[in-house]
Amino acid sequence: MPARELYKTMTNETKTILVTGGAGFIGSNFVLHWIAQQKGKVVNLDLLTYAGNLGNLVSLAGHPDHIFVQGDIGDRALVDRLIAEHLPSAIVHFAAESHVDRSILGPEAFLRTNIYGTFHLLEAARAYLATLTAEEKDAFRFLHVSTDEVYGTLEPNDPAFHEDTPFAPNSPYAASKAASDHLVRAWVHTYKLPALITNCSNNYGPLQFPEKLLPLMINNALAGKPLPVYGDGQQVRDWLFVLDHCRAIETVLERGRIGETYNVGGGNQQANLDVVNMVCALLDELVPDSPYKPHSQLIRFVQDRPGHDRRYAIDARKLEGELGWHAQETFATGLRKTVEWYLNNKAWMDEVTSGAYQNWMRANYGERSDETKASVTTAGVK
Ligand code: NAD
Ligand code: DAU
Repeated sequence: MPARELYKTMTNETKTILVTGGAGFIGSNFVLHWIAQQKGKVVNLDLLTYAGNLGNLVSLAGHPDHIFVQGDIGDRALVDRLIAEHLPSAIVHFAAESHVDRSILGPEAFLRTNIYGTFHLLEAARAYLATLTAEEKDAFRFLHVSTDEVYGTLEPNDPAFHEDTPFAPNSPYAASKAASDHLVRAWVHTYKLPALITNCSNNYGPLQFPEKLLPLMINNALAGKPLPVYGDGQQVRDWLFVLDHCRAIETVLERGRIGETYNVGGGNQQANLDVVNMVCALLDELVPDSPYKPHSQLIRFVQDRPGHDRRYAIDARKLEGELGWHAQETFATGLRKTVEWYLNNKAWMDEVTSGAYQNWMRANYGERSDETKASVTTAGVK
């Protein structure tokens, strides 16, 4: 049956969606979650940069609902071809350069993927929309997955970020994501693209690349390596379990109002040092014969991240009140599941930390932990 005829016979739930960045941390959790619920086919477009990993999707090998395509969101011909072939009912856009420290050491890729890549994807979606019937247009959605970092940083007593908080991005990463959010907004306003934006706080959970705080600390602690806490470790992040973020995206995709932004957060503000100490305590309990116990003895304060945002906090009342989403995991339950997952998936960690990962660790931490350039002290054991 030709693709367009097939499209007409499908219900909303069984139509194909195009996911970008579905081999990364949140994208792969989302794809696994979507397919587990038998929501229909996923065309997963991912460039497989250092952060993309087909190992995250190994349980979908041969699955008829998962079509993986290695490629760049900025490759307009490829995106047009995939859209023409699969006639997606939605595009869920995760693909990005996502690590703040990398954006400080090399911002260009962030501009290329996060800004120009998003631009090309928006243009492909706009061209596609022009080919759809009125009914199909009504059903189509473009969901742009973004971050709370676009709002900048908070003082200790400031209210949490809400959807109307003015943008004030501080890192090259945050600036590139803010630019992409503005592009999406403009495409809604000018071209009537049926898009929505989610701005989420820090995610944690299975399948996160160990350049980010939690998996990096778990991996280092298990190997008896220093746990590098930037500055005084009192920066605050609002942590959300990754599956709660996936459920929020699903909710906004299915019930969100076109053109709206929805903030997503766990209502769970924690100082970095406290988070690292919690990870250490869990490892002490779950790896009782570790030679590195107590793992908190491995904590080291190292030179701070330039321009380090002091505090993020999300006000998610719009998403909760309007669409009925609520985080299901507490930090205690989510953190335990996370640590257990990394303990049970050492082969995954070994695979992603081989090769180029070591170069990154040298580039980012070599300077920080050099005692001539950074102040390195032992943290108090809590
Ligand atoms: P990630 O770095 O783990 O994954 C990014 C994925 O995008 C990788 O699989 C990579 O190969 C792919 N990619 C990169 N450039 C590409 C390109 N040009 N074309 C196609 N694919 C490309 O990131 P993540 O943590 O999973 O974040 C996903 C999205 O969620 C990002 O847009 C990020 O800004 C946003 N976000 C992340 C968090 C968080 O805490 N991790 C919180 C809020 C929002
Ligand atoms: O807030 C949402 C953002 O959360 C996402 O948009 C980003 O994609 C994601 O990377 C994350 O950004 P952060 O910079 O907050 O995450 P990261 O895991 O890099 O760091 C969390 C905090 O821990 C931050 O304050 C920096 C600190 N940190 C991080 C690393 C890697 C350390 O103290 N030591 C470290 O080695």
